[in-house]
Amino acid sequence: MKMEWNNSMKIDLVIAAGSKRRREFYGKTVVVIDVLRASSTIVTALTNGCPALYPVADAGAAALLRRQLGSDCLTGGERHGLKIPGFDLGNSPLEYTAEAVEGRQIILTTSNGTQALLEANNAVEILIGSFLNAERTSSYLATNSEVVFFCAGSNGEPGLEDLLCAGLMTEQLLAGGVEAELTDGAKLGLITYRYLLSGPKAKLADVLRQSQHAKRLIDIGFSADLDYCAQSETRPCLVRYQDGRITLDHR
Ligand code: MLT
Repeated sequence: MKMEWNNSMKIDLVIAAGSKRRREFYGKTVVVIDVLRASSTIVTALTNGCPALYPVADAGAAALLRRQLGSDCLTGGERHGLKIPGFDLGNSPLEYTAEAVEGRQIILTTSNGTQALLEANNAVEILIGSFLNAERTSSYLATNSEVVFFCAGSNGEPGLEDLLCAGLMTEQLLAGGVEAELTDGAKLGLITYRYLLSGPKAKLADVLRQSQHAKRLIDIGFSADLDYCAQSETRPCLVRYQDGRITLDHR
């Protein structure tokens, strides 16, 4: 399919969930990014055969929804990085194998990633981005006029890994010929990406390890997740959150 490139795009970036900018999503395309690890987990689950995920605020909401969806669906998520007691899965993308998730719907609650998704719900469309599917996502975005990269961050603070991923997608848009007006937030993402990742020797996994959240994950035993989430375009898919469900968009 031939893409019509948009030459007057506006790109914005929100640095963390909970930053009170919810109203500004109205009428815009929002890409929610939580590289470590909710976005990477969602992309992995869907490409391993999970038909849909349902983001919810907390374990109570997950239990209620499970009653509606039936006991065949799985619950997944974390608090403080660890699996929630009584849940089937944590938030490590490595747990979301085809064997575990194929054909199973998943109710997901995480500290910041699913929070950002719920906050974005007045956007005209909501996509989910990670390094695993950044290029596929940015090539879709090229046809839009207003894009907001909504970085989930961590407890209201920015996360280096999310800024890098937003910066990468911004760079891909610019490299593809899009003429864009960038807000200061979007410039922050782009500059961070260019400074840390555009050199010939820069290795994404090494750079990710410099982030505060990566250090926390290493401390609690999830070092392998960092290498996994740092893979570029290994799962080139478009992921959409609509009407309460996260699914693959095959357009
Ligand atoms: C979150 O939503 O805050 C993260 O995905 C946390 C995590 O690394 O599991």
